[in-house]
Formats: sequence, structure tokens, C-alpha cells
Amino acid sequence: MCWVEGMARDDIYSLLFLLCFLCFRAVSAQSAVFSCDVEGNPSLRNLSFCDRDLDIDSRVKDLVGRLTLPEKIGFLGDKAGAVQRLGIPGYEWWSEALHGVSYVGPGTKFSSLVPGATSFPQVILTAASFNTTLFTAIGKAVSTEARAMYNVGLAGLTFWSPNVNIFRDPRWGRGQETPGEDPLLSSKYGSSYVRGLQDADEPNKLKVGACCKHYTAYDVDNWKGVQRYTFNAIVTKQDLDDTFNPPFKSCVVDGNVASVMCSYNKVNGKPTCADSDLLVGTIRGDWKLNGYISSDCDSVDVLYSSQHYTKTPEEAAAITIKSGLDLNCGTFLTQHSQAAIQAGILTEADVDRAISNNFATQMRLGFYDGNPSKLPFGGLGPSDVCTKENQELAREAARQGIVLLKNSKGSLPLNPSTIGSLAVIGPNINVTKTMIGNYEGTPCKYTTPLQGLMETASNSKVLAVPGCSNVACSANGFQLDPAKQAAAQADVTILIVGADQSIERESFDRTDLNLPGQQTALVQEVTKAAKGLVILVIMSGGPFDISFAKNNDKISSILWVGYPGEAGGAAIADVIYGKFNPGGRLPVTWYPQSFADKVPMTDMRMRPDPSTGYPGRTYRFYSGDVVYAFGDGLSYTSFSHQLLKAPKLVVIPLEEGHECLDQACSSLDVTESWCQKMAVDVNLRVANNGGMAGGHTVFLFYTPPAVHGAPKKHLIGFEKVSLEPNAAENVAFSVDVCKDMSLVDEVGKRKVALGSHVLHVGDLKHYLKLEASRK
Ligand SMILES: *[C@@H]1O[C@H](CO)[C@@H](O)[C@H](O)[C@H]1NC(C)=O
Ligand SMILES: *[C@@H]1O[C@H](CO)[C@@H](O)[C@H](O)[C@H]1NC(C)=O
Ligand SMILES: *[C@@H]1O[C@H](CO)[C@@H](O)[C@H](O)[C@H]1NC(C)=O
Repeated sequence: MCWVEGMARDDIYSLLFLLCFLCFRAVSAQSAVFSCDVEGNPSLRNLSFCDRDLDIDSRVKDLVGRLTLPEKIGFLGDKAGAVQRLGIPGYEWWSEALHGVSYVGPGTKFSSLVPGATSFPQVILTAASFNTTLFTAIGKAVSTEARAMYNVGLAGLTFWSPNVNIFRDPRWGRGQETPGEDPLLSSKYGSSYVRGLQDADEPNKLKVGACCKHYTAYDVDNWKGVQRYTFNAIVTKQDLDDTFNPPFKSCVVDGNVASVMCSYNKVNGKPTCADSDLLVGTIRGDWKLNGYISSDCDSVDVLYSSQHYTKTPEEAAAITIKSGLDLNCGTFLTQHSQAAIQAGILTEADVDRAISNNFATQMRLGFYDGNPSKLPFGGLGPSDVCTKENQELAREAARQGIVLLKNSKGSLPLNPSTIGSLAVIGPNINVTKTMIGNYEGTPCKYTTPLQGLMETASNSKVLAVPGCSNVACSANGFQLDPAKQAAAQADVTILIVGADQSIERESFDRTDLNLPGQQTALVQEVTKAAKGLVILVIMSGGPFDISFAKNNDKISSILWVGYPGEAGGAAIADVIYGKFNPGGRLPVTWYPQSFADKVPMTDMRMRPDPSTGYPGRTYRFYSGDVVYAFGDGLSYTSFSHQLLKAPKLVVIPLEEGHECLDQACSSLDVTESWCQKMAVDVNLRVANNGGMAGGHTVFLFYTPPAVHGAPKKHLIGFEKVSLEPNAAENVAFSVDVCKDMSLVDEVGKRKVALGSHVLHVGDLKHYLKLEASRK
């Protein structure tokens, strides 16, 4: 650089100093991005969109009215444009907070000011707690940390989480991000987590904005060459309405989520982001979304460039916006919308509608309210991130989710004072990043399984042997002998195996359900060689066929620990040593390998097809053999249920002239007038009959009469209770006949079947007859 030669040395030093100062400012920004800085710029004071006392609609209208068309188009992308004359800075819409504030979206960064955030367990494990209070508590802790990071310029206000797609196939690489295979659990998880993230003290204000994704029927990433970008999910109306869509509906209706994201895939030939029935019709029309509809990242480009759904980019811009899309993750709409308007296939009014939804969301977040330091949540800062309480909640969440799948008498919990030596074996014994799964952030700190186990059993001699060089556990680097020797000497052997992101991740589905590489051999050989008890710990998102271990008497206990988050190792030790009594239940079916051999991942059908041997999917429809079932999970104590109250007959009063009074009908439509306030009380008593306090999930399943391809069993309620030894508690379910006991027929209509319905709680069965009669 020749110009430096003419400068004095001191000048160079000052220049370097200045550069470093600017650099430092850039990486560790100290203030939030916001509009309407009326103190800094008094000329903004007269703009009514900056007036907090006006209603949001008027403010949005005022703002839109001041923008030129090119400015408007700049608000259609995730990197929203700045309009300096109006005091509007650029805004990055894309941040992520699946199970903690994440660095995955460009809107959020960690720096020396906030080096990490609390990393809660990956969602599939949290879901296994079946504790809706916990789901909300985590959301609340995450949004506090998010808002604290926003205040120092390190995060946005809009987070594209949670992922509420149904975990339909065990091979899905992103199943780990979801609450599992059940529509009710997914619905409750989604709406509870969203409320924790979003709810502010003032009505219609948002703490942060959440986003339920990926709408809809999205659960194939990359399976044997089938890519999510071009996959066409063939889905029946019935499966869409009673399996794939309920979690999204609950996000919008029960959670009041600020956004829904449409997915990459096509559903029945149409890209979801270009399907006006799905967007305008269902999300806006039926569910009444108060917020914005976003695309997945570059999914508008994908439907043009990869799916060739439209002939021109302008047509792609027009069809998506006209179908109800408001925001595009990417630059496609900001590039092509102007030309689409010029071509006459899109109007300025369409663009106004889209950006109005985006602005309204930002207004609810306070983005147009001036300096956030003076507003609610303005006092949050770096000291509110990674607090002791939040880190303890991360450990608590992992403990509550961990599932005890097998426990022979006298095995777990271990008494640390009686263990002279402990062998800890397997590729996941001392992992850090593996524990936080994907869509992760930098955690506050890690406690690895080995660290957790050694801390509690501080007097035991610990022999740690990975056995494999990583979870892939190829023959190369497989070290069986040292593992066997350790097990042969130790009083207790704990095997910690499973997966990580090299086995299951975004853009990568599994092709089989066996433990990776030589892991099965490792478990079997070490078990054979072991002197004492053998405890098997599976760390993974998706399920594995571990029948060999289930059926091996020498393996006395099996635990599934998901990806347990930053405090995972401490939580595993808490459970193994009985400081915490496990109460997690499997949120997905664990199928045998034969399922993966027989069923193509791309076959979306939920219901079995006996004529071709297709077995159907999830506990609601699949009737083949399982390794472990949805809802499985043991405790160190034992619980029992007693039915206190439930009706045997419910009479449905029909108006004179109703066709089902004269002829036998198999079902009634839920849109009819009788369907108001038909609730059935089911009261139970739950007792802890053992000597240890513990949490227990009461599941209320039901089996409808076999009409309309009804599920063989369906979860309609669950309640987590915590009971001291020998204590009991009443649990009451109010079952809404039309909402909870209805089913979706072949054409997507919700019906209540007449006849005998069975309610199940544990081993209890209760028969309830629904009968129609003259009013
Ligand atoms: C605000 O509006 C008033 C009345 O329209 C005008 O007199 C004043 O100059 C405006 N102030 C600023 C800062 O623009
Ligand atoms: C376990 O992992 C921790 C954290 O990465 C590391 O400090 C420690 O040395 C490891 N221990 C063993 C025995 O490998
Ligand atoms: C549910 O989670 C909350 C928050 O961690 C906890 O306080 C409560 O005890 C849990 N409930 C049960 C029944 O375990």
C-alpha cells in the first residue's frame, strides 16, 4: 500500500489503533438496533408510525404510506432494507432459538460480551418429559437471554423456532429437533414453548417473535438421494388434517405464534409456499394468524430453480406473495418483485399486504417504539444470560426427559459409595458438542457424561475407554481389547453409545436403524467380558433397533438420554445414582430394523394398507412389532391408577328431523349445533406405591369405533404429576367430545363416531358409549 510510505510512524500507529477500535466495535456491538430514535433525531417525532399511543394498524398504514415502491420491496427479504430518512435501520429477521439462543441464523452472534447462552437439551428429549410447564419455562428462559442479547446488539427479535413437524419416520435426520410423533404432544409442546418465548406483560406485545416451521408434511431431508428441495409429499387430506397440521394449528390458535414458515417440499404437487389453500386459506383464514408467513431459506428460489414450478422468476415472486407469503428468507423476492409488478402479475397492494404483516410484528416487538433501554425488557443485559437458574433448568430439563427403558431388579440406581471401580466405555462417554445437537449455540459450559459420573462417584476408580474413534465406529480405530479389559475389572460397566450429527442431521437421513458401525459389536463383546452390572446409555435424537440389548439379560439397564444439552453429563449421573428418579417417556416408536427394510421413507401414508403389507406409521396406526413403544419409560418407584369417575353413556341430543334419528349413522359432523360444550369428566387417582419420590405421566388414550380409518389408539390428554413415596393425587381430565374424541374422515371432515369408545389409562380400560337421541 504505497500511501502508507508517506505517513509518519505515529500516524500509522494511530490509524492501526483506530482500525482496531472500529473492528472491536463491529464484533462486540453494544446497543440494540431499533427505529424511531426520537431523542437522537427529533425530526422523527412527528411520524405517526413512531407514536406508541396509536394502534398498530394505524401505525403500519402510516409507515407503508410513506414508502416508495422500491423501499417497500426491500422489506420482503430477511435482510430488510434501511430507510434512513425515516429513521429505520436495516433488520435481520433470521435468528434461531430451538433449545437456547443459537448462532445458526445470521441475526445472532456471540462475542466477548456474551460468549455463550444456556443450551437446553435438544427438543426430542425435552418433549419426553411430557411436562408442559417445563416447555414454557424453557421458552421463557431462552427469550430472556435472547432479549438480553438483543439489547447489546448481538441478536434480533425474531426467532425461527420451534420445529413442530411430526417425527413420522425414525430415519429423519431432523427428528431430533421435533417433539416426536404424536400430534397432541407436538401441539402442546409447540404452543407452550411459543408462549414461553413470546408472552409479554402487555396484551398484543411480544417479548420475542417465534415461528412454527416447516409447514407442512416436511420430514424428508435427504434419503437415498431424495432431496427435500424437490420432494413431492403425497399426502391424503385425512393425514394432513389429523397428523401433519394439528401442531401448526395449535401454534397459531393456542400459542398465538407470530409466524409460520412454509417448507421446501411440495405437497401433492404444489410447493407449500405457493399454495394459497395452505397459506391464505388455512393459516390466515381458518386459524387467523396474527403475524407473518415466512419462506424457508431460499425456498422461493428453490421452487423456481430446482422444482421448475414456474417458468419465470417473476411468476415465482407473484404466486408466492399472492398465495400469502409475507417474507422471504433470501433475496429472491427483493430481486424479482418489481419486475413482477411491471409485468402486471403482482400488484403494489399485494406487496403492501405482505410488508404490513411484517411491520405489525415488529411493532408488537417494540421495534418502532424508540430506544429499547427505556422499554419493557430494556434492563436485560449480559448478566441475564447463562445465569445459575437457567443452567440449573437445563440440567433439570435433561433429568426430566431421560427415559429408563430397562431396569432389572437391583440394577439402577447405583449407590456410588459401594462402587470400587467403574468402567465407562463407548464413543459418547466424554462428548461435548454432541450433547447439544443441531440448531445449537455456544453453551455456557459443558458437563460431559464422564465428568458427571466422576464427580458423583468421586471415590470410585474410573476406567474410561472410548472403544471407537468416533460414533461412526468403523473397523479402523476399533479398540475392543482395552474396552473388554476395563469391563472385566470393573464392578460396574457403563456403555455410552449412540449417534451425533455425523449420523443424523439436517440434509442427512439415516438408511437403517442399527447402531452405527461396530457399536453393536462393542456393546455385545464388552457385555460378555464384563465382571459386574452393565448399564447401556443411548445418546441420540432418533431411535435405534437395540433388540439385541433389550433381550440380553446381562445388560441390566438401558437409558435413552437424547442429546441432553450442556448439563447432560450431570443429568445422566443424577439419574444413574438416583439423585433424580427418571420419569421421561418415549415420544416416538422404536421400530425394528425390518421396518426400515420394508418401508420407503418417502411413503407419507400414516395408515396401514393390508393389501400391500404397508404397516402404517406411529403408535396410532402401526401394529407391527416394536423394540420400544411410544410412551414407554420406567421409574425407580411404581405407580398405579384408579378410575374414580367417568360416564358409561353420553347421549347426544339431535334436533327433530335430523337424519340420524331415523336411520343408523356411524358418525355425526362436528360442525352441527349439538357440538357445543359436550364435555366428559374423567377423574383418576394416581398413587406412588414405592419408596422413592418421582414424576409420573398419566396418559389418557382412546380408541374410537373402527370407522373412517380411525387410529387404533390416540392420545387425548396427558398430565405429569410428582408424588412423594406412598402419596396419591387426583387427576382430572375434561374431555371435549367434539374436539378430543372426534376423528378426521377420508375427505378431511371432523366427525364424532357413534358407538363404543374405549378410554385407556395404563392398564385401565373404560368403555363409553356415544348415542344419538331425540332432543
Ligand atoms: C412537527 O409538525 C409540526 C406541525 O405540523 C411542525 O410545525 C413541526 O415543525 C414539526 N416538527 C418536526 C421536528 O418536524
Ligand atoms: C473429557 O472431556 C473434557 C472436556 O473436553 C476434557 O477436559 C477431559 O480431559 C476429557 N477426559 C478424558 C479422560 O478424556
Ligand atoms: C415440570 O417442570 C417444572 C419446571 O421445571 C417443575 O417445577 C415441575 O416439578 C415439573 N413437574 C413434574 C410433575 O415433574
